Amino acid sequence: MVVTSNGKCEWAKEMKEFDETKAGVKGLVDAGISKIPQFFVHPPESLATPSKTTKNVQLELPTIDFEGVQTGGAGRKEVVEEIRKAAGIWGFFRIVNHGVPLHIMDAMLEAVKRFHEQPVEEKKLLYSADSSQRVKFNSNGPLREYDSACWRDILTCVFHDDQLDPEAIPLTCRKEVQEYVKCMIQMREIMAELLSEALGLSSDHLSSIECMKSEALACLYYPICPEPEKTLGTDKHSDTTFLTLLMQDTIGGLQILHDDQWVDVPPVRGALIANIGDLMQIISNDKFISVEHRVLAQPVGPRISVACFFTPSLRAGAKPFAPIKEILSVENPALYREFLFREYCQYYKTKGQDVTSALPHFRIERILP
Ligand code: OGA
Ligand code: NI
Repeated sequence: MVVTSNGKCEWAKEMKEFDETKAGVKGLVDAGISKIPQFFVHPPESLATPSKTTKNVQLELPTIDFEGVQTGGAGRKEVVEEIRKAAGIWGFFRIVNHGVPLHIMDAMLEAVKRFHEQPVEEKKLLYSADSSQRVKFNSNGPLREYDSACWRDILTCVFHDDQLDPEAIPLTCRKEVQEYVKCMIQMREIMAELLSEALGLSSDHLSSIECMKSEALACLYYPICPEPEKTLGTDKHSDTTFLTLLMQDTIGGLQILHDDQWVDVPPVRGALIANIGDLMQIISNDKFISVEHRVLAQPVGPRISVACFFTPSLRAGAKPFAPIKEILSVENPALYREFLFREYCQYYKTKGQDVTSALPHFRIERILP
């Protein structure tokens, strides 16, 4: 938030009051507020759009057609090549013809909307900031003091090693979440093969190091915002995952930082968006990049999106990660040191809005000759 002279105590007070309602941002909107609470206000530099400079070109995210994956042969090779380029230059790409049925995607978006729009009394039961709780409803998670809050609510469902007790999933969206995650797991298998091939490794490499064994589904709800120019739906960040697969509805508002410019990622019906996370950037030794992105707060909505974050199992704390040996050489030495997954998670717990990535923390400092 923007801290004024007595802003510090205001932050804690406002945040506490908001948290105690257990009604999320949607609760504020339902109460009819016309001004957003101060702790949602982001400093102007976070909101400012870097100027479009002189490159007067409309940048567009690459779209990759997965039709060729099934046909195999040259078609698959082409897809792998497109992924290699997109993951290395953009860190993001859109996927069409991925095989996830449209009716399952639509039903999931509807179910997420239904969960967030049910009576507060029901949702409240799941309201929690406890990161060990597998299914929880929250708005901004535990915020570090004076961090600006974002204009969105989240239902999170965490599957360890692909498993989550169905009883733990709210009944309003249980069937849809289960079906959707099944499709995401199938997509994960395909993506692991294609990304391995794009790194020049055998198809089973990423699957064999078990780096994407768990899924966290973030079922996001971005309510209409009365003062969208003062806040953000999701603050600028890179994903801490190996890989994220995102589905968004038709509202738009997602932007990615490319060549120092915020580039819109307009919704395409039925498409999925893949993005490389920080862990993938590390093990690929920067061959693939994890790129910052954000979601604008808007005067229209609600906007619904579902992010599926693939990470190692949380039980794999003692698992070491480092740039993959097979892709290193004298010309391409390791850029990151080896670390345990536990250490990586711990680092993210301590970082706030001022630190947006763990990459510098694990990077090997080289003294140039
Ligand atoms: C995220 C994210 C984008 C969106 O949750 O990490 O980037 O469109 N979400 O909601
Ligand atoms: Ni993200």
